[in-house]
Amino acid sequence: MSRPGLFVSFEGIDGSGKSTQARMLADRLRTEGVDVIHTREPGGSPGAEEIRALVLQGDPDRWSAETEILLFTAARRDHLERTIQPALEAGKVVICDRFADSTRMYQGLSRGNLRAKVDALHDLMIGVEPDLTLLIDMDPETGLSRAKARNTVEERFEDFGASLQEAMRAGFLALAKEYADRFRVIDGAREADTVAEDVWAAVSPHLT
Ligand code: ADP
Ligand code: TYD
Repeated sequence: MSRPGLFVSFEGIDGSGKSTQARMLADRLRTEGVDVIHTREPGGSPGAEEIRALVLQGDPDRWSAETEILLFTAARRDHLERTIQPALEAGKVVICDRFADSTRMYQGLSRGNLRAKVDALHDLMIGVEPDLTLLIDMDPETGLSRAKARNTVEERFEDFGASLQEAMRAGFLALAKEYADRFRVIDGAREADTVAEDVWAAVSPHLT
């Protein structure tokens, strides 16, 4: 895909501060006069938001990992077609709270090694990676207590508990090495403003 815009994703375990940092980055870019779309996964388009409710609410064993790969990828395809791609083609900066790396981790690692299936479906149906991925890294205990404090109905993955979050953290750090050209790892266990400075230092060189 040829694209004049900039595609930035935030990744990390639940409660690491991705949404906070995505919002702060979007605000700062807007202040600088940059045309920004701030979006999230699962969701980010009307159809994908409907799929979001299916995958994030209910029992942790509601879907098999294989079914989840299909649902998250279906949501992503709709989000890409309707929101991300048009914005990039219009030259905008797209800030996305989670993208395909989350499927590589949560569906690819949490219940057996399904990474090859995740990657195959991604290649077939998505085929796009962010220009820059900011991994907000932090210890799962802190992340989980932050996430639980929010007390929402979207707890299917948070209910998997601390051991899964530990595996996710290690997995994300390994992914950052695998895709070293687009990943930047940022220490999330600091004041939000301090984290935001590191985010800005990573993003600003990409703005033309
Ligand atoms: P995520 O999107 O990664 O799940 P959020 O941005 O929603 O994380 O943050 C989870 C919770 O932690 C929120 O209540 C948020 O206000 C709080 N939070 C975010 N960043 C920080 C920080 N740097 N220090 C302390 N609390 C934070
Ligand atoms: P999110 O709303 O970002 O939650 P949080 O703010 O707690 O990080 O994401 C909701 C959950 O969806 C999160 O636990 C991770 C999960 N998820 C997947 O399992 N696969 C995916 O492809 C995506 C995008 C998210």
